[in-house]
Amino acid sequence: MSDSTAATSPSAAVAGHPEFVELHQQNPEAVRAELIAGLLASAAFTSPKYLYDALGSRLFEAITELPEYYPTRTEAAIFRAYAADMAALQPAAATLVDLGAGNCAKAAGLFEAFAPARYVAVDISVAFLRQALGSLQAQHLGLPMVGVGMDFSSAFALPPQAGGGPRVLFYPGSSIGNFTPEAALLFLQQLRSACEGGGLLIGVDLCKPRALLEPAYDDALGVTAAFNRNLLMHLNALIGSNFKLADWQHVAFFNEADSRIEMHLQALRAVTVSWTGGERHFAKDERIHTENSYKWRQADFAKLLLSAGFAQTRAWTDERGWFAVFWAAA
Ligand code: AVI
Repeated sequence: MSDSTAATSPSAAVAGHPEFVELHQQNPEAVRAELIAGLLASAAFTSPKYLYDALGSRLFEAITELPEYYPTRTEAAIFRAYAADMAALQPAAATLVDLGAGNCAKAAGLFEAFAPARYVAVDISVAFLRQALGSLQAQHLGLPMVGVGMDFSSAFALPPQAGGGPRVLFYPGSSIGNFTPEAALLFLQQLRSACEGGGLLIGVDLCKPRALLEPAYDDALGVTAAFNRNLLMHLNALIGSNFKLADWQHVAFFNEADSRIEMHLQALRAVTVSWTGGERHFAKDERIHTENSYKWRQADFAKLLLSAGFAQTRAWTDERGWFAVFWAAA
């Protein structure tokens, strides 16, 4: 990889030494209360963020390599083909803010074309970012880097350490699909406020036939089933419950009316699950709703960006029209 050189000298981040900010303090009692409320709801549910414990994150990485799971490789091909076009629309010397950075690989692939002045990697876990940013910094010594530990699933606001100047917010992977359309609008409005004079580069999975969608969320190897069922192990660790893997199966289907894939865990038999201070009986076939993954029509997503306050949009898609990357100028 080439060494990116900072075009400006931001005060907060010093080139060569990533700075780290932890905004998100996990509050075990709040997590426990949220999870138990979802489990006790008449239609039980959990937030998809609980799919990502250490094993869940590794299972998700494995999902991205499955032949049936087209989004990751389709989006990567769009970035490879159009990175220069995308770069041409951006303000010079911008801060590239990577939302849900993970191993930072997707953003790093754009450093050469985008030549950012600063790189801000945001993820729920700053511990994970420390490792990823440490090795990335060694390859890009001239680029100031900041790692921000933050859970932006309910509210988004960057800390002062993210620096001033124009920002390009980078939100790839169609993670916006895990928000309801109403929540997506609110989230996009918050993103819009954080990138005045810059913009948002966002990956969006598009509508396609059920026969393509359903195998992507119920693959032949059973990796997505393991990803979903692993949530039960995570719940046992978080709330001291006694879910047994053998009692639950993975269910994923396309809900056409709502244009979303739904993932559920379905009880194979009647079971009573207990945790310290409570319990819930699940009848045979009763479900816990664990994730929605909305599929957008390109024109509708462009309208959503405009409704969120962005001034104009541009989109690039693959030849089959399965996935789109949007640039929304703020
Ligand atoms: C992270 N998110 C965009 C993935 C998706 O496609 O909704 C999560 C996922 N769930 C099952 N497979 C992948």
